[in-house]
Amino acid sequence: MLVKSLSGSEIMRVETGTGACHASRPDLPPLDPRQKWVLWHGRFQDAGWIPDESVDAIITDPPYGREWLPLYEDLADFAARVLKPGGICLVMTGQLILPNVIEILRRRLQYVWLISYVSTGHAALVWSIRVMSHSKPVLYFAKPPHNPTGLFRPDLISSGQKTKREHEWQQSVVGFRRLIHHYTQPNSLILDPCCGTGTTLVAAIMEGEGRRTIGIDVDGRAIEIAFRKLQEASGGLLQLRMFALEEGDPMTAPRPTRAGLNGRRAGA
Ligand SMILES: C[S@@+](CC[C@H](N)C(=O)[O-])C[C@H]1O[C@@H](n2cnc3c(N)ncnc32)[C@H](O)[C@@H]1O
Repeated sequence: MLVKSLSGSEIMRVETGTGACHASRPDLPPLDPRQKWVLWHGRFQDAGWIPDESVDAIITDPPYGREWLPLYEDLADFAARVLKPGGICLVMTGQLILPNVIEILRRRLQYVWLISYVSTGHAALVWSIRVMSHSKPVLYFAKPPHNPTGLFRPDLISSGQKTKREHEWQQSVVGFRRLIHHYTQPNSLILDPCCGTGTTLVAAIMEGEGRRTIGIDVDGRAIEIAFRKLQEASGGLLQLRMFALEEGDPMTAPRPTRAGLNGRRAGA
């Protein structure tokens, strides 16, 4: 069924869930393999429409405060359900709650490694411990059995510049694209259950090579921003804007493909 979103654009209501969603192909069901991206407005805990063992990688950045720890318990259960065996779960989180988050995620997933995500912008001042923080941990968990092969991946990822601040929690597309480039495979399904303004989804679409992506968030305003950015990314406009800002950075430079700029593909 088609309904109107806050911005007036057409959105679909997922038959199997309570939330409304946008999709790259509104004429197709959300889980059709021809969907490049799907954005769902709702709680990930209610996303029963995502089948068991259907997702290759979860890449997410949930809220960091101690009061959010119960959300990480739900995330662990959700990831254990929807990830394929061998699938990975990369969780950006706060240093202060890191031991708690590791303990919670280990109940359902296998701990693999800690990736350091270095911010190139200003340091965040952590007043309680007088630390100028230039990095964030990204926890690398997996659903067993996890046997990565192929190229070695760096455990130091630079965020690159922020392109535009549309939301206080927004992450850098360049940094998330680096995570996706190194830690996911072509043709994989990448899910962000706390997607905010859609950074993971945009990064997955820009990285291309058949990657598909699903984003979920309870915040309708963030979903609308994500929708706009995904439309831009699919049309190649976001790539050009970022290239103008970060000329010379190979991760943001538009790369020619047979179909034109990366990200600008039929049905994208
Ligand atoms: C740190 S922000 C993510 C920011 C995102 N990485 C970006 O670049 O815009 C965390 C997000 O989790 C969302 N959230 C919190 N609880 C949620 C839940 N139960 N289901 C889905 N999203 C949730 C919040 O609305 C918020 O947008």
